[in-house]
Amino acid sequence: MSKPHDRPMTPPRAVPTLPVPAEVASDKAVPRLPTTVVSSWKGGVWKTCLSASIAERLAFAGLDVLYLVTDDQLDARRRLGISEFDPDVARVQRGAGSVTVVGLAGPNSVELLYRSGPGRLGRFDGIVVDTPPVKKGGCLPGVLLIAPTDGDDASANLIRMLRATPTNTEIVLVRIDAVPEHEWEHDAAIIHEASNHEGSLLYLPGPLPRTNEVREALNRGQSVWTLPRRGATRSFLQGVESLAGLAWARIRPDTELPPLARTGTASVHIRGWDDDA
Ligand SMILES: Nc1ncnc2c1ncn2[C@@H]1O[C@H](COP(=O)(O)OP(=O)(O)OP(=O)(O)O)[C@@H](O)[C@H]1O
Ligand SMILES: [Mg+2]
Repeated sequence: MSKPHDRPMTPPRAVPTLPVPAEVASDKAVPRLPTTVVSSWKGGVWKTCLSASIAERLAFAGLDVLYLVTDDQLDARRRLGISEFDPDVARVQRGAGSVTVVGLAGPNSVELLYRSGPGRLGRFDGIVVDTPPVKKGGCLPGVLLIAPTDGDDASANLIRMLRATPTNTEIVLVRIDAVPEHEWEHDAAIIHEASNHEGSLLYLPGPLPRTNEVREALNRGQSVWTLPRRGATRSFLQGVESLAGLAWARIRPDTELPPLARTGTASVHIRGWDDDA
């Protein structure tokens, strides 16, 4: 059985690019801390699942992560096992690191990211942002933008969102659920061409699979990184691991994301047995 996530991420094949609008090209702002944004102009495409899982993976690698949620949804807190009785700024320990969840309305998030910095919220190595399904989620400059999509309609939405993405933002397209790889490569090339994005644009070669184990873990606020690595769950975690690796590279550019086994989780991987996807 093929294991799409074993391969490194590749840029889509060369496509002719269209002229970049002046207002996009002129945007050179960068956030105060290395920032990864998960955004798609579409609801229910696993934005919260991916952003929470990436934030946790970075924490397991020893980082203190600020997890910024730019709408009032409580999903992000629940995913991390934080209850409604916990403080508004809640911190969970993951391995040697931590994830601190903060919900801030859009303009306040922009203030924190680009102007004031986290300030009294604490000291952080990096920021992961979960955005609601709005077009301007793709507008933040100088970030790693992870853009999930689940099919053709979603891809059309994505194109419209990515047209406004500043050129100093690195885009990673992620297809969720079971979609054939050749179809995805074709779509990714079209999205690339239509987005007018001259900056870096990557895509995860294989789709992130849907699994009951992941869904149930999310529902009970259990970290997906504690799940046994087998079958589709293993493929899912490998894909998210690749995304976390890109987020890590912005924070610690001189080192690789440390493997999970060395970062102190309970999961044990048995070579030869767990590898059978
Ligand atoms: N790999 C997966 N396998 C199965 N179910 C999943 C997986 N990832 C996420 N889900 C489920 O899909 C649903 C939508 O996910 P999620 O809430 O992360 O999407 P979202 O894009 O944040 O949605 P919204 O636009 O409402 O904020 C949730 O019920 C979640 O548990
Ligand atoms: Mg969400």
